[in-house]
Amino acid sequence: MIEIIPFSSQHDARACADVMHSTEPWITLGLTREKALEISSDPVLERYMAIQGDQRAGYILINTGAQFPGYIKILCVAPAFRGKGVGKRLMQFAEDRIFRDFPNMFLCVSSFNNRAQQFYKSLGFHVVGELTDYLIEGHSEILMRKTIGPRTTFKPSNDTR
Ligand SMILES: CC(C)(COP(=O)(O)OP(=O)(O)OC[C@H]1O[C@@H](n2cnc3c(N)ncnc32)[C@H](O)[C@@H]1OP(=O)(O)O)[C@@H](O)C(=O)NCCC(=O)NCCS
Repeated sequence: MIEIIPFSSQHDARACADVMHSTEPWITLGLTREKALEISSDPVLERYMAIQGDQRAGYILINTGAQFPGYIKILCVAPAFRGKGVGKRLMQFAEDRIFRDFPNMFLCVSSFNNRAQQFYKSLGFHVVGELTDYLIEGHSEILMRKTIGPRTTFKPSNDTR
């Protein structure tokens, strides 16, 4: 059974960095182990992982801070767990978390990561822009969004006004 829990130690950040560093799209994007660890250790992000027993199956890092809240910074499923619904579970978890407090979810996906683009479209995300040559020359980052309405009329679920 898959469970989703917050990171609880630096071991979790290291394990996340190891998977990112050794898999696409981050290989093509030239992500170093150091940079991966810097991202997966960032305390500003809400960091969660999917576990099955004592195995780490996947990771999702979400920005809920002041700048661009609702932005999914990293989604990464461990290779052995791919295609088994873990990514979908992590995205559903993120959606429940984000839409509790914010009306928008955002993410970037690399222009060459076609399967992930299809995956996000199937979850209701739409392309809102293309950041050309954003991380590396010759490839874009595609900005995608899923929304439940305008910010001005949105009421967070803990808002009792
Ligand atoms: C992309 C990724 C997060 C998808 O997670 P996953 O656990 O493999 O996907 P799931 O098993 O939850 O698949 C959910 C659905 O998307 C489809 N799908 C789309 N892209 C897929 C992909 N790259 N891998 C597996 N399934 C994919 C599946 O067929 C499935 O459809 P269904 O529900 O109708 O059967 C995962 O494969 C991964 O970590 N890839 C490498 C890193 C990456 O690309 N991260 C995204 C960076 S923006």
